[in-house]
Amino acid sequence: MKSIDKPEFIFLPQEDVIAAGVLDMAQALAEVELSFQMHGRGEVIQPNKTVIEFPDAQTGHRRYLTVSMPAYLGGQINRAGIKWAAESLDNGQRPGLPYGIDMIILHDLERAHPVALMDGTLITAMRTGAAAGVAAKYLARPEAKTAGFIGAGVIGRTAFEAIALAVPGLTEFRLFDLNVDKARALAAEFAGRWQIEIVDSAQAAVENADVVATMTTTRAPFIKADWLKAGCFVAAMGKNEFEAEALLRANRLVVDEWEQFKHYQPALLAQLYQAGQIDEANIANLRDIMLNRTPGRSSAGDRIHFLSFGLACEDLVLAERIYQNARALGLGQQLSLWQQPHWV
Ligand SMILES: NC(=O)c1ccc[n+]([C@@H]2O[C@H](COP(=O)([O-])OP(=O)(O)OC[C@H]3O[C@@H](n4cnc5c(N)ncnc54)[C@H](O)[C@@H]3O)[C@@H](O)[C@H]2O)c1
Repeated sequence: MKSIDKPEFIFLPQEDVIAAGVLDMAQALAEVELSFQMHGRGEVIQPNKTVIEFPDAQTGHRRYLTVSMPAYLGGQINRAGIKWAAESLDNGQRPGLPYGIDMIILHDLERAHPVALMDGTLITAMRTGAAAGVAAKYLARPEAKTAGFIGAGVIGRTAFEAIALAVPGLTEFRLFDLNVDKARALAAEFAGRWQIEIVDSAQAAVENADVVATMTTTRAPFIKADWLKAGCFVAAMGKNEFEAEALLRANRLVVDEWEQFKHYQPALLAQLYQAGQIDEANIANLRDIMLNRTPGRSSAGDRIHFLSFGLACEDLVLAERIYQNARALGLGQQLSLWQQPHWV
């Protein structure tokens, strides 16, 4: 009797994703940079991500969201996949549950079945930090020395490491988090590699910094335009942490995907654009700067503000490496969608 093909795939829990090398930031930086370049060269098919935001039943404020992020990476990768992500502000009070929890599915295109289902939580964290690092590499002044970070959570950790690696001239690091224990823990974790000064306000972190990065869960703007010095590079990885004036005064606004960003109503940048307060000519996609299609920094005094929307191509480029490494190392649990096909 002819043997049947089974739709087999591996399941990789977070422990296996770690064993397959997800925590290597130098690698994540290279891969996220590659994903932006591939995107710029037209080697990525990436429909808009679909965000559903759920308000808190009592206050009506946005507290929870889910995001569906499919993409196809061409070139040498040739892989389609999807990240299904979720965020909950309530998780800050739930020990053990991070603010964002994600899963990724990778597909075999020709056989039309999944080849991997994996935890995507650390992949999201690593690629988001790496995106901040790649943006800093292209947009910070080469002589940048001082960096101010706000937010010492999951993304705070990865964005710190990515920026410190991507801008090796940085020598002074300041960090603020409303939760000082988290700031201390992050500083202790990196103590052997970088000295981080814990400061007691967002202003103290931001003022006089050549590089500013924000990674908080705050929804309301709290960072003032006046705190940002001329020539600084800002990586805004959270949601609406800067007052409108900071965006309006930026010499260049850079995003990862303007076509998606401009329709994302909860983003202050999209609101300002839709209200006619921001000229689209001042907005660039990072990939176009990387590929020399449009200017990035044009003078040492430019204030450049990078805002991250988050793209599936960043996730899938890391996920593919994790999948290949996991297979080579024999990690994961082999699963099959069925034993005997029904109706085939
Ligand atoms: N752009 C992207 O692609 C992308 C991807 C993933 C997450 N994010 C965003 O990154 C942000 C951080 O996510 P996370 O997983 O690190 O969350 P987290 O809960 O692990 O960390 C958030 C930290 O911010 C601190 N914080 C909150 N408000 C603050 C304030 N006003 N001042 C100083 N510190 C403050 C909290 O104490 C906490 O330590 C979220 O807004 C999330 O949506 C963006």
